[in-house]
Amino acid sequence: MEKKFKRTLITTALPYANGPVHIGHLAGVYVPADIYARYMRLKGEDVIMIGGSDEHGVPITLRARKEGITPQEVVDRYHAIIRDSLHDLGVSFDIYSRTTSPLHHKTASEFFRHLYDKGEFTRQTSMQPYDESAGQFLADRYVTGTCPKCGNEHAYGDQCEACGTSLNATDLINPRSALTNAPVTMRETTHWYLPLNKWEDKLRSWILDGHKEWKTNVYGQCKSWIDMGLQPRAVSRDLDWGVPVPVEGGEGKVLYVWFDAPIGYISNTKELLPDTWETYWKDPETRIINFIGKDNIVFHCIVFPAMLMAYGDGFQLPDNVPANEFLNLEGDKISTSRNWAVWLHEYLADFPGKQDVLRYVLTANAPETKDNDFTWTDFQARNNNELVAILGNFVNRAMVLVHKYFDGTLPAAGALTDKETALIAEVEAVKGRLSEALDTFHFREALREAMELARLGNRYLQETEPWKVAKTDMDRTATILNTAIQLCANIAIAFEPFLPFMSERLLKMLGGKTITWDMLGCFDLVAAGATLGKPELLFDKIEDSTIQAQLDRLAAIKEENRKNAWRPEPQAPDVDFDTFMKADLRVGTVLECQKVPKADKLLRFLIDDGMEQRTIVSGIAAHYKPEELVGKQVVFIANLPPRKLRGITSQGMILSAENSDGSLSVITTSRPVAPGASVK
Ligand code: MF3
Ligand code: ZN
Repeated sequence: MEKKFKRTLITTALPYANGPVHIGHLAGVYVPADIYARYMRLKGEDVIMIGGSDEHGVPITLRARKEGITPQEVVDRYHAIIRDSLHDLGVSFDIYSRTTSPLHHKTASEFFRHLYDKGEFTRQTSMQPYDESAGQFLADRYVTGTCPKCGNEHAYGDQCEACGTSLNATDLINPRSALTNAPVTMRETTHWYLPLNKWEDKLRSWILDGHKEWKTNVYGQCKSWIDMGLQPRAVSRDLDWGVPVPVEGGEGKVLYVWFDAPIGYISNTKELLPDTWETYWKDPETRIINFIGKDNIVFHCIVFPAMLMAYGDGFQLPDNVPANEFLNLEGDKISTSRNWAVWLHEYLADFPGKQDVLRYVLTANAPETKDNDFTWTDFQARNNNELVAILGNFVNRAMVLVHKYFDGTLPAAGALTDKETALIAEVEAVKGRLSEALDTFHFREALREAMELARLGNRYLQETEPWKVAKTDMDRTATILNTAIQLCANIAIAFEPFLPFMSERLLKMLGGKTITWDMLGCFDLVAAGATLGKPELLFDKIEDSTIQAQLDRLAAIKEENRKNAWRPEPQAPDVDFDTFMKADLRVGTVLECQKVPKADKLLRFLIDDGMEQRTIVSGIAAHYKPEELVGKQVVFIANLPPRKLRGITSQGMILSAENSDGSLSVITTSRPVAPGASVK
């Protein structure tokens, strides 16, 4: 850390209060921010960590509409869930507030007014989609209609999910409101814009020249935005939920949610420190660090800094924005709307007392440089093979041995041997690497270093074998166990930022002690003669059945989503009539039907086609028992060239319909017909 600074302001992206928080939020933002804040506090730094709920924006109003409640009721519900669950995970906010607070409304409103008075905005008029029956403008996302490209009738105003084309609401054929399904019209509206182009040069030199040390994913995104050229951005919306636009002509309009939310960092600092908040925002000796996910980079590195520069008055820009990539869940993108997530409040209920396990796994797998995957089997493996088998095991062995040989009273160390000096040197080296990793926001690596202490501990006991030495030499045993217990105290310090619950329990077992980061590396932390607590297991094994229950839950959600997401396939390109007529479709009666040996998918049919008997092989064994089909009339294509399947020559193809769940249903006739009848 080259630059001198006096204090640190840590901000954490304000989660939208339209759902609970999930492991993606935790891995991306709250766990790393909390590690960093705890580390700073242990170092005795002046640090505050700011959080809060982001309670405005269109999705909240839609959720309210869907549930028949007010937006305020929506955010009240989720704010409480988010606040309590983050607290229970040990995320050590100095304040966790919300953007519907009167203080925030006042702060955001004044911020806007100040920029307006300084002439920092431009005004522009444009045509926007409007829902006549709801009497409101619609964000592109809330317009649906037919995709001009592929004909999908359920395309959104910003994108067609069937063919992937990105769209404008005005491109859709037959645009309708996602709120009311009413046809959409276009209306003229006027908004205030922040001309980002005005700040382009300053942003370029501040980030691209001044912050080459930023994470490459962050720096790269900023560079590509700036290189593309910055455009004015609308900072107001036609909506009735948010901070009202406080200037003439602002009736019926609110601040764009991305304008007011980052101001929430300022409001919440004010709420925490009404008298001294300004030193955290305006003193150049304050370091501001924004913890966010990658989808927030442009707002934190371009838009909000431009707002702060436009405001002036000494506001400082962030010193670093260590944004993370995304965490996936079992290979699929986490999604609030599809319920594809591990929700924090549910985790806390399902795994009581295991906050640290989640913190550990999310840090070990943190998506620091690329997207990463959370899987329940990895969760179990890391708990059982690392927390239980390495960390918990070492501490437990050390504690049990002191109880066994010294009745729980820590013996004094005698003369140190090479083994102890080597261990102490290694711990010192770990401290250096661990601090360096934490200082540079490499939390995965930092956690690996902390874990190294437990590995060193296990190796030390393995090599010194106090249980053997105790048979002959109690002085040496005392030295070994004293050293092992000092290492336990080092572990309590090194892990405090990562696993604060474990650290607290461990310190209690060691007789209670206040710790600082400076103490790390010391081997006189627990005084000789101290009474150690009862050895308790710090972690316990997670059983397969527990993991299976989580996997079953996810499987049920996947099934549910598949049902809800099903849509008919888009219509195929036109086929000319003559080509179609060449297909000879007929009805046949199933005379025999059997499974094809060693092929789980195939059934072999013997069909009466009115002239002779023909064999057809069909891939529907997963969907029918052979005997169900005997005697049924089926439709088949008679004039396909014969094909060999598993050594059987198939003379045609039986038609089936594929249902939304992927199951196949054989096409049959609604009345009996003569075998061989043509299908017209
Ligand atoms: N609510 C936003 C999101 O979840 C983050 C807002 S961060 C803030 O993506 F800077 F605006 F507060
Ligand atoms: Zn399309």
